[in-house]
Amino acid sequence: MSITLNRIAEQGTNGVAMMPIIQGVARAAATISALLRSAVFKDVLGEAGAENVQGEQQQKLDVLTDEIFFQEMRATGFVCAVGSEEQEQLQVVEEYAHADWLVLVDPLDGSSNLDIDGPVGTIFSIVKRTSPNLQRPQEMDCLQPGKQIVAAGYVLYGPATMLVCSVGNGVEGYSINPGTSRFELSHPDIRIPAQGGYYSVNEAYSSSWLGGMGSRLGRMKRETGLGMRYVGSMVADMHRTLLKGGIFLYPADENKPNGKLRLLYEAIPMGFLMEQAGGQAMSADGRVLEVMPQGLHQRIPVFLGATAAVSSLLA
Ligand code: AHG
Ligand code: MN
Ligand code: MN
Repeated sequence: MSITLNRIAEQGTNGVAMMPIIQGVARAAATISALLRSAVFKDVLGEAGAENVQGEQQQKLDVLTDEIFFQEMRATGFVCAVGSEEQEQLQVVEEYAHADWLVLVDPLDGSSNLDIDGPVGTIFSIVKRTSPNLQRPQEMDCLQPGKQIVAAGYVLYGPATMLVCSVGNGVEGYSINPGTSRFELSHPDIRIPAQGGYYSVNEAYSSSWLGGMGSRLGRMKRETGLGMRYVGSMVADMHRTLLKGGIFLYPADENKPNGKLRLLYEAIPMGFLMEQAGGQAMSADGRVLEVMPQGLHQRIPVFLGATAAVSSLLA
């Protein structure tokens, strides 16, 4: 008998509360997966013709996946608002503005891979509102350090579509079984290997990295002997790191003094998962999950991986 996402409800009070929202994420993921597979025939590849709040050219699929995700969060009835990479402001779910939970999301991660049919993903984290339920949720409700999030996960749209998530009791992977069209447990208890794997970074920027990161990386390569893999999609690079070991990093550089990756919907969910899998999640000034967010779209350097690799890089 296959194990489905219902198993999440067996993981304590957090699991019971998170299951319907994570099932909503899974419904969005199934729709997005189908959309990606038929994208070329539906003329939804390419640029949407607008910039997002990040100052980046939005892909048509960035916009479409953001709407799909928001509608599935709304359909759960448990989410009062969504903070999205693709929306400058917090998106309040009007009918459920008194609900307990907010979801932060990067609806389509690695979208530069879309036109080369590379792996892309969705990244999410779930936080409990800090404002009274009778008030309208606001951005402040999202600005909580990662140590306070209740759940996080990602969907990897690769050869398989896989949802990797945690409600604070370790990390599990559920893959869509084409035979049943359901997410079924495929990777129970994901733990990052202590040794081996790869380092994963865009070394094209190494000459402008800040904080002596170039020499630090050189030392880490000598000390660990790790090979290098880089897809350019955080979800794919992080998934490989969790399963094979090593480290994923996106340092600050002269042109990006806070790095490129966003704290609330990339660094915190991935940092939460990395720690739940037995690894370390560091930024320039310490643990990612201790950073106090100042804004919905702030960026942060990240160093996420096995303790030996992270220590070798940052010691
Ligand atoms: P997004 O597509 O959501 O903007 O994220 C892209 C991010 C992340 O997926 C990846 O790790 C990083 O951009 C790659 O950046 P570079 O192309 O600068 O290496
Ligand atoms: Mn992203
Ligand atoms: Mn994105």
